[in-house]
Amino acid sequence: MSKRIEVTDLNCYYGKFLAVEDVTMTIHPRSVTAFIGPSGCGKSTFLRTLNRMHEVIPGAYVEGDVLIDGNNLYGPGVDPVNVRRQVGMVFQRPNPFPTMSIKDNVLAGYKLNKQRMKASEADDLLEKSLRGANLWEEVKNRLDKPGSGLSGGQQQRLCIARAIAMQPEVLLMDEPCSALDPISTLAVEDLIQELKETYTIVIVTHNMQQAARVSDETAFFNIAGTGAPGKLIEMGATEKIFSTPDEKATEDYITGRFG
Ligand SMILES: Nc1ncnc2c1ncn2[C@@H]1O[C@H](COP(=O)(O)OP(=O)(O)OP(=O)(O)O)[C@@H](O)[C@H]1O
Ligand SMILES: [Mg+2]
Repeated sequence: MSKRIEVTDLNCYYGKFLAVEDVTMTIHPRSVTAFIGPSGCGKSTFLRTLNRMHEVIPGAYVEGDVLIDGNNLYGPGVDPVNVRRQVGMVFQRPNPFPTMSIKDNVLAGYKLNKQRMKASEADDLLEKSLRGANLWEEVKNRLDKPGSGLSGGQQQRLCIARAIAMQPEVLLMDEPCSALDPISTLAVEDLIQELKETYTIVIVTHNMQQAARVSDETAFFNIAGTGAPGKLIEMGATEKIFSTPDEKATEDYITGRFG
């Protein structure tokens, strides 16, 4: 299921504003890739180009190629809705549908796509997705209660369950733990370690310890100044980026000298 992503010469625009310039990178399957860098350097923008969510913003577009196992996401005739099914996303703030039950939240993607499922199939998928998100034991006796009644950490795992219910190949996570307490953060980090056996995972984080703990590869983005585009400065094995990076800016950032 897990797929390789190859990005070539990617530019991201908001109208005339070039937000991210000339990114070329390979993201490996069955691994966790972390994006780090100071606020405004374009991590979220770039992440959203990997499932065609960037262009949802009026005036926003990209130049360049994003290949998932060789298929160009931006090729002619590619349906962005299909892309988003294949490449799931989890956001910074847990965003379960508040009035929906836990069960309906997990199965929401299918309902939105009006896909029909037998009740038994739906129950299997529900349990599998909640188990996959390490949440089953905590919610199995309250599946019909609203998702909004869960703790923040549980809500974030519910959103992960909702994303994996769609059986994506890639999971994008934009600061998935920034609204969580330390215990919930560890639960989500443990989960990420398990999910990488099955999915290609990309996570944006401001937490250097988290990047060091959960990721196999790290990409450092930076900006020269306000109004300048964000750029990929360097990318490599997390161990190397955090011990002997090639670029001085990377070292300054990870040692906390700026950003
Ligand atoms: N919807 C938008 N319209 C116009 N410009 C935007 C939009 N979203 C982001 N930008 C601009 O694009 C640049 C990159 O923003 P982005 O949110 O990708 O940065 P980031 O690295 O994720 O920052 P943070 O760490 O604060 O989340 C910034 O200059 C930002 O102001
Ligand atoms: Mg961001």
